[in-house]
Amino acid sequence: ATPMMQGIIDLHHDIVFFMILIIVFVLWMITRTLYHFHYKKNPIPEKIIHGTAIEIAWTVTPSLILVLIAVPSFALLYSLDEVVDPAVTIKAIGHQWYWSYEYSDYSQSDDQSITFDSYMIPDDDLELGQLRLLEVDNRMVVPANTHLRLIITAADVLHSWAVPSLGAKCDAVPGRLNQIPVFIKREGVFYGQCSELCGANHAFMPILVEA
Ligand code: CUA
Repeated sequence: ATPMMQGIIDLHHDIVFFMILIIVFVLWMITRTLYHFHYKKNPIPEKIIHGTAIEIAWTVTPSLILVLIAVPSFALLYSLDEVVDPAVTIKAIGHQWYWSYEYSDYSQSDDQSITFDSYMIPDDDLELGQLRLLEVDNRMVVPANTHLRLIITAADVLHSWAVPSLGAKCDAVPGRLNQIPVFIKREGVFYGQCSELCGANHAFMPILVEA
């Protein structure tokens, strides 16, 4: 997993911990209520309509839980903005309906930065072992174990550059540059898809990262 993915998994564990506490407590309350307030066991309802102590408790406790969840949540949120001295910067541009990539750190002999388009391989052209709707003609190739900076934008309408196993999802907005840090811990091929409804071929502009 990438460090960002690890952060997302850790936050998930933090929140599930509180979720289990709440589920167990609520189920216990429901069970006891059904038992003690059964009409045979308790035919005459209580006259109590107010209780200051319990009302403070059931207001303050959930707020405290929210604060406890907010701490790791904000820590993760702000860590997503941090770009640690990247060795490579790659610009991903969403188009209707394909991605193009620009490696501006490295210029070709004519001083043009390296750019290429990345189109999905249509069903008819797939080779054995290639994944339908996920394979592309030109992959985004990056080094593993290296801090990368991704600059995401779009040429026409909104798209979204999303590779779940990298913990990466970033809107591609025309006229705007969005930045995400990526660090891939091992070599491999990582699949993603456009994740903002961008028109007829929204489902057919996959992302393929090869580390
Ligand atoms: Cu591009 Cu959806």
